[in-house]
Amino acid sequence: MPLHRERFYVTTPIYYPNDKLHIGHTYTTVAADALARYHRLRGRDTWFLTGTDEHGLNLQRAAARAGKEPLAYIDPIVAWIQQLWARLHISYDDFIRTTEDRHKQRVQAIFQRLYDQGDIYKGSYRGLYCVRCEAYYTEDELAEGRLCPIHEQPVEWLEEESYFFRLSKYGEPLLRHIEANPDFVRPESRRNEVMSFIRQGLEDLSVSRTSFSWGIPVPFDPKHVIYVWIDALANYATALGYPDGEQYRRFWPADLHLIGKDILRFHAIIWPAILLALGEPLPHCVYGHGWLLIDGGKMGKSRAGGQVIDPLTLIDRYGVDAVRYYLVREVPFGADGSYSEEALVRRLNSDLANDLGNLVWRTTAMIERFCGGRVPDPAGAPATDLAQVAADVRRRVEQHMERFELNLAVTAIWDLIGRANKLIDEAAPWELNRRGDTARLGRVLYDVAEAARYAAVLLAPFLVETPERIYEELGFAEDVRRAGWEAGLTWGRLPVGGQVRRGEPLFPRIDLEEQFGDVEAGETAGPAAETISIDEFGRLDLRVVRILEAARIQGADRLLRLKVSLGEGGERQVVAGIAQHYRPEELVGRQAVLVANLKPARIRGVESQGMLLAAEDGDRIVLLSPEQAVNPGSKVR
Ligand code: MSP
Repeated sequence: MPLHRERFYVTTPIYYPNDKLHIGHTYTTVAADALARYHRLRGRDTWFLTGTDEHGLNLQRAAARAGKEPLAYIDPIVAWIQQLWARLHISYDDFIRTTEDRHKQRVQAIFQRLYDQGDIYKGSYRGLYCVRCEAYYTEDELAEGRLCPIHEQPVEWLEEESYFFRLSKYGEPLLRHIEANPDFVRPESRRNEVMSFIRQGLEDLSVSRTSFSWGIPVPFDPKHVIYVWIDALANYATALGYPDGEQYRRFWPADLHLIGKDILRFHAIIWPAILLALGEPLPHCVYGHGWLLIDGGKMGKSRAGGQVIDPLTLIDRYGVDAVRYYLVREVPFGADGSYSEEALVRRLNSDLANDLGNLVWRTTAMIERFCGGRVPDPAGAPATDLAQVAADVRRRVEQHMERFELNLAVTAIWDLIGRANKLIDEAAPWELNRRGDTARLGRVLYDVAEAARYAAVLLAPFLVETPERIYEELGFAEDVRRAGWEAGLTWGRLPVGGQVRRGEPLFPRIDLEEQFGDVEAGETAGPAAETISIDEFGRLDLRVVRILEAARIQGADRLLRLKVSLGEGGERQVVAGIAQHYRPEELVGRQAVLVANLKPARIRGVESQGMLLAAEDGDRIVLLSPEQAVNPGSKVR
C-alpha cells in the first residue's frame, strides 16, 4: 500500500489513565513513533497525535475510591504518562486530553449536529455492561461465568434512558467502502473480521449515559453524558480543530490509526460510521496490531498473574534504544507475540552488542590503529559490494515501512550490518596493513565505516540515541535527523579525513545467567533438547585468541593458567585442563579458540574468563586452532 502522500498523520489510541501503562501500551506508541520519525525523515509533513481518554464510570469510581475529584485524581497520572513518553523519546506533535475544553466543545458540536440531522435519537437501553470496556455485551458475547470477554470481570445490568446513534444505517455504505479500499483495515485478518461483523447486521448504538456524571454533557439534555467511546474516538478530529481548524484542513483524513486489536471494532466500524454521518472523509488505514502476551495471557490481568511490566524499569536497566529495538524487532507486526525480558536481553546481546556494536567498535579501532584515527580515502582501490548492499537494503526498508512491516524493516537493516562485519572478516584489514596494501586498506575501512553510518540513518526511525552516537564515533558532525533520509542515504557522504572518536561500546553485553539464573537448564530440559537452533549456536561467542603466557598452577597437575589476547578485545586469563598434554612453553605464541562469553568461574582459586576448545580423542586432548593465523579476536562461526 504505497503512500504517495506528502503528508502523514498518525495516531495512537488515547490511553486510559486508570490502569498503569505497561510494556503493551508502550508497544503501540513506540511503533507509531517509529513511523512518524520515518515519514519526518523522508521530509513529509508529519503529525503524530497521542493523548489520554479521561472520562467514564471507571475513572469516576477510581477517583471516588481515592477520595478525590476526578481531575485531581487524573492529573498526576497523566503527568506520569507524559514522563514515560519523554523517557521513550516519543516524538508526538500533540497530546490531547479529553478533559480539555478544545475537545469537549467540539464533541458537543458533533453530537448536536448528528442529533439535528436525525442520526441520533432518544430511546432506552437495558443490557449487560462492562465498566472497564465502557460497553454493553449480549449474553452470547460473554465469557464463561458471565464475564466480560476482554477483562474477564463480572458485567453489570444497566437500564437507562439513552440516545442512540443510527449505526445500522451505515453498515452498507461502510461495507462498500471497505470492499473498495483493501488498505482501509489492516492486516487482512482484521479486515475479514470487520467485514463479517458488519455483514451480520449492525444495531444502533447507545451513545449516552445517565448512570454516572463524569463525562461530556449532552448539550441539549445535560442529565446525559456522552458515551465515552464517542467522546474518545472524536479526539482524532477534535485535536486538529475539527471542523474548520487549519490543522484539520492540513491533516485530515488520518493516514493511520494505529491501535491494538481489542479496539478494532470501535475504530473500523463506529468511528468511520460517525465520519460518514458527518460527511467527512474516512482515514486511509486502521491498523490493528497484535498483543504482547506474558505466559500466553494478557498483561496486567489476573490470569497472567497480574504481571505488569513497567517500561521505566526496563529503560533503567537496558537503555531506551534496547527497549525500543526489542519492541519493533521481536514480534511480526500485526501478530500476537510473547514478551519476555530474557528475549529482550538476547536481542540486546546478539543484534545490538554483537552485530551493530561490534561493527562500530572494530571499524573505529582499526581506523585508529591503521589510519592514524582519520577516515581513510577509498579512492585508490575498487569499491566493495557494500554500496550495492546498502542501496538494496534501503529499498527494502522503504517497502516494509510503507506497509507497516516494522519488524521486517529492522531485520533488513541487519543484512547491511551483517555484510559489513563479514567484509571485515574476509578482507582482513590487519593483513592488508601488514602487507602494506594501503589502497585496499583505505577502501575496506572507508566502506565499512560508511556502511555503519548508512545503517545509522536507516535506524534513525527506530533508535533515538544510537544513530547520533555512531555519527559521533565516526567523527561526522552532521545532525543525522536534520539531514534527512535522502541526503543521509547518499552513499559516500562520510567525509574522508574525519577524526574518529571511539567511545565506550555502544551496547554493553548483559550476562544472561547472572540476570536470569540458570537459563540453559530451564530451556533445554526435556527430551527434545538434542538439536539446537542456529540462534542458540549464535549465542556462543567463539573467538580466536593468541596465547601470550602459560604457567602451571601449584597443586593442580592437570591445569594451566593461560593469558590470551583477543586483539582489540583485550586480554583474558583462562584456566585450561591441558597440563598433561602440553608444556607451557610450547603453547606461547599459538592460536586457539576461546568461548568468550562463558560466565567467569574460579577454578582452584584462579579466575577463568572463558574456556579454550579442545578435541578429546581417547586419552589425547588436542587444542583447536585456526588452520591459518588470523587476527586475534576474530569470530568463529
Ligand atoms: N482508551 C482506549 C482507547 C481509546 S482510542 C479512541 C483504550 N485505552 S487503553 O489504555 O486501554 O489501551 C490503549 C492501547 O494499548 C490499545 O491499542 C491496546 O490495544 C494497547 N494495549 C494494551 N495492552 C496491550 C498489550 N498487552 N499488547 C499490545 N497492545 C496493548 O483502549
